[in-house]
Amino acid sequence: MCGIIGYISGKSQKENIEVLIEGLKALEYRGYDSAGLVSISNENLIYKKSLGQVKNLEADVNKILNSSPVFGEGDYSIGIAHTRWATHGVPSELNSHPHTDCNENIFVIHNGIIENYKELKNILEKGGHIFKSQTDTEVIPHLLEKFLKENNNNSNKFDLSFLETLKIIKGAFAIAVIFKELPEMIYVAKLSSPLVIGIGENENYIASDPSALIGNTKKVIYLKDGEYAKVSKNNVNIFNFQSQSVEGEIKKEITELEWDIERAQKGDYPDFMMKEICEASEVLKKALMGRIKIDQNNPGNSFIKLGGLESIEEELKSAKRIIILGCGTSYYAGMVAEYLFKKVSKIPTEVFLASEFRYREEVFVPDTIVIAISQSGETADTIAAIKKCHDNNLTVIGIVNVVGSTISRITDSGVYNHAGPEIGVASTKAFISQLSVLALVSLYIAQIKNKSFDKNLISELNNLGDKMDAILKEENISKIKSFAEKYSNKKDFLYLGRNFNYPVALEGALKLKEISYIHAEGYAGGEMKHGPLAMIDENFPTFAIATRNKKDNVIQDKLFSNLEEIKARKGEILCIATEGDENINHITNDLIYIPETLEELEPLLVIIPMQLFAYYVGKAKNLDVDKPRNLAKSVTVE
Ligand code: G6P
Repeated sequence: MCGIIGYISGKSQKENIEVLIEGLKALEYRGYDSAGLVSISNENLIYKKSLGQVKNLEADVNKILNSSPVFGEGDYSIGIAHTRWATHGVPSELNSHPHTDCNENIFVIHNGIIENYKELKNILEKGGHIFKSQTDTEVIPHLLEKFLKENNNNSNKFDLSFLETLKIIKGAFAIAVIFKELPEMIYVAKLSSPLVIGIGENENYIASDPSALIGNTKKVIYLKDGEYAKVSKNNVNIFNFQSQSVEGEIKKEITELEWDIERAQKGDYPDFMMKEICEASEVLKKALMGRIKIDQNNPGNSFIKLGGLESIEEELKSAKRIIILGCGTSYYAGMVAEYLFKKVSKIPTEVFLASEFRYREEVFVPDTIVIAISQSGETADTIAAIKKCHDNNLTVIGIVNVVGSTISRITDSGVYNHAGPEIGVASTKAFISQLSVLALVSLYIAQIKNKSFDKNLISELNNLGDKMDAILKEENISKIKSFAEKYSNKKDFLYLGRNFNYPVALEGALKLKEISYIHAEGYAGGEMKHGPLAMIDENFPTFAIATRNKKDNVIQDKLFSNLEEIKARKGEILCIATEGDENINHITNDLIYIPETLEELEPLLVIIPMQLFAYYVGKAKNLDVDKPRNLAKSVTVE
């Protein structure tokens, strides 16, 4: 949560601020309660904080820029900026970052939580420090102020004070600091919250996420936990603040980002959410690229190649159990994978919410492989759950979208999604990508374990893009839009699915909650009569997944009975069904058809109309679909 960006260059202050504001806009999905920045150039200091979205800060800063003299190129311009997702203290200008010391000489932005801030604040207040905000972050500039005073006669006072502060604060943090007295340097440090340094020519950047750097630089250095850096216009010096011995500078590898600017922009779409839903087939293609080897003459010889898993092939061969970990949408993708791994790979599989797994007693058995799923690669609960697995000597595979993110680096092997940046806070294309990669992994495990599986799965997966595009045709989208408008005044919604589509019902309900703030519950169809049926009346509609496929229609028949029970209680029904299936007409009030596919792959198609439905309900209610209230895309705190 919270986005941080910093920029130092020889350019003008106006350009410095432009980079900060654009960076904040790219990071807004991490939090958007309030935003703030400080920028210094040739002794001109601009310090502004504004409540609400980044556009408010932009307007306020533009007013300042327009009323102050225009500063041309100087020796330097330096700035740090922050977009906030409140943890301690209500969203307000005072609580937004940067925070300062008593005399506004030190500016600090922070992502994470300082757990011992109360005791530190007490000590500092007793020492005469005056606090302005209710945040945990504010202890940092005051600690720096205190240590600077104590080290005043030391020529190395900034480094020393920064180090002493890092050693005293506890919790999770990515922080960036500017000292007014030393305006050619940004100090940064990382512990459990992400931080990346962007390398330019005669300019350098810092950010909580590489997406803020797209369009500026593709060269980045990822800081590790326990590292701090001094970033100037032409240099980046990295050290460790945790080691007991005084270590020298750490040499770090520069990573090349693969994302380009177009993929992080809306283009002709009204919102990122719509753009990202419409990228479904492209995302599938990217996930499969180079990983499916189709033998045109003999499809039975087609096979899956996952380079990222080759190093643990022997472990996978002998694996007897799989544990899947994730949060939010990634957890639901994991639930679909549980069905896949059991049916296709024929291996016992359990899926856990990372937040539960990290604290519960678990029985660890040998030959267990863990799969951690995360779009951002930064979710705190998933990271903690991975650490627990490592402590128990389990091998962990990461399925991650953001290249170079924490989870991609701490896992033992992995498969990247290559879905490109996902900006909409509610995950859409990442879910499609995760399902695609998990289908590949299930096939790969079946292949190396010599388990028999339906070879049509490989070719069907490869052809699914056309079916996705068919769902996304204009006439289908308008139909879904009209259903969304019809149901947008409802207060509750039930989502039903069975088997592979049960987790999709959960994900569909989650999308509606996130985007439209309508209470929605996902249920397994068979559970209807064990509770949810009691809620059904003419005001409580149901969105049901009633698809059919050639292999097995028992499930559909059962679901039909569930729907009949709803109809008998005057509940309205909106159904997703398979093209050509007319049996459904007499039950449902409204109907969305999708092309037929194999049941194992149905979730990849079914979720698209559900995402569109949530999108248009949100639009009908005039809500910001890209930035739902109270949520953040990357949840880097517990
Ligand atoms: C947040 C996001 C969700 C996401 C979840 C897990 O809640 O709003 O869209 O599914 O975190 O994130 P991850 O990056 O680990 O997939």
